[in-house]
Amino acid sequence: ETLEIGVEQIMKGGYDHFMQKEIHEQPSALVETMRGRIALEVEDCSEGDGSECTLERQGSLKLLDSLDLLKEDGGGAEPLWRGATPRVKLGGLEPHAENILRSRRLIFVACGTSYHACLAARQVVEELTRVPVALELASDLLDRQAPLYRDDTCFFVSQSGETADTLNALQYAKRRGSLCVGITNTVGSSISRETACGVHVNAGVEIGVASTKAYTCQILVIVMIALKLSEDSISKGKRRNEIMRDLLRLPSMMRRVLREEGVIKNLARELAQETSLLAFGRGYNYATALELALKVKELSYMHSEGILAGELKHGPLALIDETMPAVVVATNDALREKMWSTIQQLLARKGRLVLLVSKGDDDILNYFNGEENDGRARIITVDTVCDCLQPILNIVPFQLLSYHLTVLRGFNVDQPRNLAKSVTVE
Ligand code: G6P
Repeated sequence: ETLEIGVEQIMKGGYDHFMQKEIHEQPSALVETMRGRIALEVEDCSEGDGSECTLERQGSLKLLDSLDLLKEDGGGAEPLWRGATPRVKLGGLEPHAENILRSRRLIFVACGTSYHACLAARQVVEELTRVPVALELASDLLDRQAPLYRDDTCFFVSQSGETADTLNALQYAKRRGSLCVGITNTVGSSISRETACGVHVNAGVEIGVASTKAYTCQILVIVMIALKLSEDSISKGKRRNEIMRDLLRLPSMMRRVLREEGVIKNLARELAQETSLLAFGRGYNYATALELALKVKELSYMHSEGILAGELKHGPLALIDETMPAVVVATNDALREKMWSTIQQLLARKGRLVLLVSKGDDDILNYFNGEENDGRARIITVDTVCDCLQPILNIVPFQLLSYHLTVLRGFNVDQPRNLAKSVTVE
């Protein structure tokens, strides 16, 4: 027994819990997920016959990993991109890319946190591929015996690759002739074996029952799939390059979020005795609100609900008063104005606000730092990254919040009651 405890301590690598370790592993997990999958193609190559020449062949992918992805303060990626066309390389998917693009629908099937990853990335898949994207909770797809067709492509997203509902949905889709693609974090898992092709997430082993690094890396993988599928689209070229550039900035931005752990811990102290926590988001960050609420309830046993901000007036507003804490994800993107109006409506009902906003969003920051409104909201700030990657950063403060809430409330972070890491029964 002594030996076992010793081994576990070593595996936790200086952290108190696996969950905390896995949250902090995210910058390097993102790097591992991208490693070898982003190549720069240079148009003017000094050597050879001037035909297409990839920097990768010259060993520059190593350069990409070590110089830019791993560098403390990021920002150094720029020179590398000059004159180069970034490309995503996903070996497993390449032979099927054309078929996938010709599908009638792309259907993402998952459970729990993996489903939230699909939700976070849905919009960019639609935007870049222009193929209709549907999301399915695996159990619900089966309950409905939903129609699937030969010209549908189904993506099965699962950290473990063993979740019974997702696996059953996969068998169901196979029987209907749909092209089945696996996105799992476990090599050799049932889902990876049973699918026609797939992408390994490569976030590293996850031990905490509540998924953290697998979530952010799953979003990253789905964004990379969207980039891969759209690489021949000229009209999407500019947008694709924008996203690619920001991919490289993610790890260092993630590190900056993690440095704010002290601030989040203080916030957790303020909220630890609450019985309920609401979370509002929309667009890319509806998923952030749902995932935040799932983390808070499954770990700290505090009631929590993620709400689409667009639905505020259709019911949830009735819950708001001066005692109800409400988190609002209001980072800068095309929906920021709408989120600002959500904030105003919550303020009008004296809601106790916790806001996640972009660094440098002076309108919001000055408003709440001004005399009149001082102390009316707790504010967390994060860097701004390309809108479709923002959910990858935005969830991190809330992973930390749910972690600290749970520790303060005295519950087992790594093994919440009644839950299992991998649910292999229906
Ligand atoms: C369990 C875990 C969750 C996970 C879900 C789906 O409920 O506690 O953290 O999101 O299963 O698991 P999967 O391995 O399919 O991603």
